[in-house]
Amino acid sequence: MIIEARDIYKTYYLEGVEINALNGVSLKINGGEFVSIMGQSGSGKSTLMHIIGCLDKPTSGSVLIDGNDVSELSENELADLRLQKIGFVFQTFNLIPRASALKNVELPLIYAGIKATERRERAIQALKSVGLGDRLYNRPSQLSGGQQQRVAIARALINNPGVILADEPTGNLDSKSGAEIMRILNSLHQQGRTVILVTHEAEIAEHANRLIRIFDGRIIEDRPVNKDKPTIEDRPAKKDRQSREDGPTRKGKRREVQE
Ligand SMILES: Nc1ncnc2c1ncn2[C@@H]1O[C@H](COP(=O)(O)OP(=O)(O)OP(=O)(O)O)[C@@H](O)[C@H]1O
Ligand SMILES: [Mg+2]
Repeated sequence: MIIEARDIYKTYYLEGVEINALNGVSLKINGGEFVSIMGQSGSGKSTLMHIIGCLDKPTSGSVLIDGNDVSELSENELADLRLQKIGFVFQTFNLIPRASALKNVELPLIYAGIKATERRERAIQALKSVGLGDRLYNRPSQLSGGQQQRVAIARALINNPGVILADEPTGNLDSKSGAEIMRILNSLHQQGRTVILVTHEAEIAEHANRLIRIFDGRIIEDRPVNKDKPTIEDRPAKKDRQSREDGPTRKGKRREVQE
């Protein structure tokens, strides 16, 4: 699936105040790419994710999926597209608190009209694939943050979408759970899916093959990620050299870049 955004503007109006969240964004993401999107808080990353994921509409400009302008789709066709082709993962998991892990994962299949026995089987399979085969009946509050996020990933995957949109999926997790989520996203990419990931952390962004940087609702950088570059672990541990190369915000290997 090819996702293309052409000259996207998004203006929010709130109590008479105009907020220009996106100011002319154009990009094209081919099937199978792994793209990370970085930018400071308020720069428009989530707005862009919602628009390319067809959860929200631009004020002007167009989104094309496989060359077709989505503004020409009916509400039903749009809902179908979101249900079958795109999986969303959010920073705050967005699980239903009163439902078990299994029920949460089954939900998109209920919307898709799949019958109960098949739903159950597929949801169990999806939960097993993220290592939660032994937590089927736990509610979100009875799971760790990392486990909740894995339930959310299982839910996003249940209809086998070609595209995964993940908006700061590791933002609320400790580094170990974050690493687990990144392993899952990497393997989804290796299976041929498109992964689009919003993150504040430079080290997480480097899992991708392409990095897009947004500032004030505009793309200011769009470049391939150089995977051959030695990681910090590979380099000689010479303090002055590291700080010269990485700048003042990235001194230690676990230090996150706050944007
Ligand atoms: N529903 C809304 N109504 C009004 N303004 C909004 C709405 N959603 C977002 N905004 C504003 O649009 C701008 C872009 O918001 P967006 O959520 O896309 O930023 P972001 O890059 O995802 O930030 P963060 O890193 O904090 O999540 C911000 O100034 C925000 O306050
Ligand atoms: Mg956001």
